[in-house]
Amino acid sequence: MTDGLIAHGRLAGLDEIAGVGVDPARGGYSRHVWTPAESELREWFTARAARLELDVETDRNGNLWAWWGAPGPDAVVTGSHLDSVPGGGAFDGPLGVVSALDAVARLQATGFQPSRPVAVVVFAEEEGSRFGVACLGSRLLSGAITADAARALTDADGVTVAEAAAAAGLAPEHLGRDDEALGRIGLFIELHVEQGRGLIDLGSPTAVASSILAHGRWRLRVSGQGNHAGATGMRERRDPVVAAARAVIAVEQAALATDDARATVGRMRIVPGGTNVIASEVDAWVDARAATDASTRALVADIESRVQEAVAGSGCTAELVEESWSGVVEFDPELAARLAGTLGGVPLLPTGAGHDAGVLNGAVPTAMVFVRNPTGVSHSPEEFAEADDCVAGVEALETLLRSVL
Ligand code: GLV
Ligand code: MN
Ligand code: MN
Repeated sequence: MTDGLIAHGRLAGLDEIAGVGVDPARGGYSRHVWTPAESELREWFTARAARLELDVETDRNGNLWAWWGAPGPDAVVTGSHLDSVPGGGAFDGPLGVVSALDAVARLQATGFQPSRPVAVVVFAEEEGSRFGVACLGSRLLSGAITADAARALTDADGVTVAEAAAAAGLAPEHLGRDDEALGRIGLFIELHVEQGRGLIDLGSPTAVASSILAHGRWRLRVSGQGNHAGATGMRERRDPVVAAARAVIAVEQAALATDDARATVGRMRIVPGGTNVIASEVDAWVDARAATDASTRALVADIESRVQEAVAGSGCTAELVEESWSGVVEFDPELAARLAGTLGGVPLLPTGAGHDAGVLNGAVPTAMVFVRNPTGVSHSPEEFAEADDCVAGVEALETLLRSVL
């Protein structure tokens, strides 16, 4: 039964939002929390949920909940996020939201009467692309970040979360752990496009998640001496851009020295950033991930010492400061095996990508379903999922919802 699911060769829901937040620089999508593009997606979600007669509410932390039946305890919640990385793909986040709405629509179409409350959720700022901390909405909801720490985060223009939340109609003083909203979740199932090659290699359209690498973000600040590009001799300089370049190589070398840890510098800021100006400061953000909390901590310690060695003698100083941390996630193996069995024995698959389901794991029962990505590429416009595999994902989610409702 694919009637109405597909439009123009893709899930109709993804087709409806295909023009929202297109990134002019890279292609793909830049849909950052509480920007016009992301607000348009929230409106789209609200309208689509209304078509299913779901009641939409925004919680204290800016997460959206579309309720089928009265909100209540022991609810089965499914969904994902609508924000993106800069120049991201069409599937990371929206696939889980669209699939959740489609699965509910299919249950409704067969006259199914759920025995527990059901909600489709959209978590805010999952990518952390605007304020720097990933999964901000689910971290606030579960208390994994304090309200004070969250309120003080700033975007690239210096706008704080408190200011942006207020502009979006939230009460910044009410941000923070939300026991009422959290207490309603009996089970959270997040469907997500797979972000690597796991399902290509396994030859399966879907899988159930087993674990998530430990990961975090660190700000590396390299400070030097701002000066004149023409008047300053090459041996008189304390140039933080050159020191930061060496530091970035050191970050790569630290990860390469391990079996399978990953370390990335994907964002840098040069202060003040002028062609004829030797910079005074460079900020580079390090994303580090590994199989265990201890190996991730060891990787970051090695990065720190290699960075200090790399900048030594440059006249610059370097400082590494933790901005966020997510310990390794092991999804409940019994639940994961049961769900994989319900889906006819689909594989269990680990991932290196972070998710709201990972943040909520431990606070509430949580599971994930992955949909094959034939490019194996994500956080990029090349991220993809075939329409047939997306339909398989919707069917899998519908099957799981039937089995638990
Ligand atoms: C989110 O996709 C992350 O893994 O950072
Ligand atoms: Mn992502
Ligand atoms: Mn995601």
